[in-house]
Amino acid sequence: MTRILAIESSCDETAAAVVEDGKTILSNVIATQIPVHRIFGGVVPEIAGRHHLEAISPVVREALTRAGCGYDDIDAVAVTAGPGLVGSLLVGVSYAKALAQAIDRPLIAVHHWLGHLQAARLEHPLSPPYLALVASGSHSGLIAVSEEGRRFLGRSRDDAAGEAFDKIARALGLPYPGGPEIAKAAEKGDPEKYDFPRAWLEESDDFSFSGLKSAVLNHLNHERMSGKEPDEAEICDIAASAQEAICDVLSAKAVAAAQREGLPLIVLAGGVAANARLRELLRQRADAAGIGTVWPSPVLCTDNAAMIGAAAYDKYLAGEFASLDLNADPRLPLE
Ligand code: KG4
Ligand code: ZN
Repeated sequence: MTRILAIESSCDETAAAVVEDGKTILSNVIATQIPVHRIFGGVVPEIAGRHHLEAISPVVREALTRAGCGYDDIDAVAVTAGPGLVGSLLVGVSYAKALAQAIDRPLIAVHHWLGHLQAARLEHPLSPPYLALVASGSHSGLIAVSEEGRRFLGRSRDDAAGEAFDKIARALGLPYPGGPEIAKAAEKGDPEKYDFPRAWLEESDDFSFSGLKSAVLNHLNHERMSGKEPDEAEICDIAASAQEAICDVLSAKAVAAAQREGLPLIVLAGGVAANARLRELLRQRADAAGIGTVWPSPVLCTDNAAMIGAAAYDKYLAGEFASLDLNADPRLPLE
């Protein structure tokens, strides 16, 4: 039995978890800074770093307490080394290095996206081959996962899917983070009211959502110039139509890529994977194509440390340990 204490602090959640054998969550503690950043309409990096500093010790202690573990029960310390906000990453990386040194356990550096990719295995038995659709606030991509490794099929050329949700929400006057707010407003809106543009990029598996974002902004500016402020019903219609455009593209391109590559399963990951309409559309289309679908519970879709513990387990088995001169890398490449 291997117990990994994992730490995640790449953006605005200070998180720690204890995960057994890469799949059983003994604890999963998340201290979110969303209320702090909400008044600014987005994450303020300097404030995020300071809050991580205050939260990290109590969050790690709480993760150990809830898991019923002392330091002696921990076999390794894992941490997100990048990508993310450098000041935020540094808090987790420094803490993990000090802790690994103090309790004389190996240190494991985990790529944030790899964590998202592995989140589903905390709830479902997962074995390659499959297609991963990673959609979060900072990245969207399609990754073919096989026994041999991972191969990027496509990625975002501009705004990531979550970024598009956040920016459109902001333009509509909805609070940060925009994804859940758009989803809530969309429940009362008409997804067919506006036919917002979809960038299909037929020749590739890449994504682009900046055209959609501009179309929504142009629509709002046009209305405002003629003196019309959107009322609640209009906000809900725009939210529903924009959400439909994003989910339409993500799901259709994922299913097409899985079909072309002969992959029998699509695994959803990242904060946008919490979106109910995306799950519904993806399942409908994948079912029709005879392709399976799997996604984590919402709490494991958005940033958390349990996913870092899951991803760290493979590295633990492979003896892939980091040295104590590990540094946070805000632009860490996946491979
Ligand atoms: O994975 P994540 O927690 O952080 C990053 O690694 O970026 O993803 C956060 C993103 C935000 O853009 C947020 O608006 C979006 O995920 N998100 C959602 C939903 N919940 C979170 N987007 C659409 N629908 C949701 N229900
Ligand atoms: Zn993330």
